Amino acid sequence: MDVAGIRDQMPGLKYGVYFNTGGIGQSPASVNKAMAEGYQQMLSGSVSATDWYTAMEEAASEMPAKIAGFFGADAGEIALTMSTGEGYGMVLGGLRWQPGDEVIITSEEHPVPLQAAQGLADREGAVVKVVEIDQDKDLVLERLEQTITPRTRLFCFSHVTTDTGTRLPAREICALARARGILTLWDGCQAVGQFPIDLHDMGCDFYATNCYKWMLSPMGTGFLYVRKDAQQVLKPLRRPHDPDGTARQYETGTPASALYQGLGASLDFMAGIGGPQAIAEEASRKAESLRARFDAIPGVLVVSSRRADTQTGIVAFAIEGMEGREVSEALIERWQITQRATYMTDPTGVRISVAFYTSDAELDTLVEAVTTLADEARQR
Ligand SMILES: Cc1ncc(COP(=O)(O)O)c(C=O)c1O
Repeated sequence: MDVAGIRDQMPGLKYGVYFNTGGIGQSPASVNKAMAEGYQQMLSGSVSATDWYTAMEEAASEMPAKIAGFFGADAGEIALTMSTGEGYGMVLGGLRWQPGDEVIITSEEHPVPLQAAQGLADREGAVVKVVEIDQDKDLVLERLEQTITPRTRLFCFSHVTTDTGTRLPAREICALARARGILTLWDGCQAVGQFPIDLHDMGCDFYATNCYKWMLSPMGTGFLYVRKDAQQVLKPLRRPHDPDGTARQYETGTPASALYQGLGASLDFMAGIGGPQAIAEEASRKAESLRARFDAIPGVLVVSSRRADTQTGIVAFAIEGMEGREVSEALIERWQITQRATYMTDPTGVRISVAFYTSDAELDTLVEAVTTLADEARQR
């Protein structure tokens, strides 16, 4: 992969050392251009309100098929959303609940899905149970089996967790759920764009995500996948104006077409550089080398998974004797390294997002900085 050539197309990379794709991905210039053209057309006022509305609807209506093609789904299973939280709202609000129904989440959910589950408990009297994450997937499956009861209705899990970047055994979890008549809702934010995902093969019922992280798309883009037969049980939050028998019945407003033009361009960009498999291979080679280099620094502990089947491009680490927040602040202030502190790991640390576009020079700067901080911590 021509990483230098790719980096030249990402204007945001010139502002420092970038390790926060798990926060916000770096949009290529082609994505920014597509978005800007959409807005320029809108701002020019050159189209009548009616023509403009039709143009917007046409631009957005191409997206479900394009997204579906990328994620092993059918176009009729994709609803356009603005965020993961919106997708969670559509699913949790659109299912029928009885007080005492149980929902299982993981111990490492981002506040958006966590608060959605808690809101369900507040509104409907659902009971939220928690399964502890582990880098050993068999242990997670075992814990999950022990948490299921006859009242379990839904699993709400991150496909890849937000702090340690642990990849859950999604296919096995979906099979386990299906065998017991339990529905599955996934938060895909840290997974989409990191590695190939085939939603039919995965076997989930619902998959909600935004696209502004590893998908390199604009903020305000996302989608909800609703498996064809799950559409029988999920009710739309509002009565569809023009029901067409697709997941678009779940959309709650008019999608922002200029943003979706950006998403379309990012799918083209990713396909153009080799697609999800090539992207995953490039990033995982770099993440593996970073884990090994961190291991060699005295006082540094890699908190993220060391197992091939649960590790990802997210590498969380801790420095003995330092709070994660302190490490994070020093990295940005002294070396202009963008990352973020973890808030759910014990010990607290820093989350490094290694992307396919991460450069060797960035990895060197990071390792040097962490070595310096670990030395300083030891001498305190
Ligand atoms: C795992 C996870 N879920 C959800 C979100 C945010 O969700 P939303 O798209 O609703 O802003 C993030 C963002 O950092 C995340 O990492």
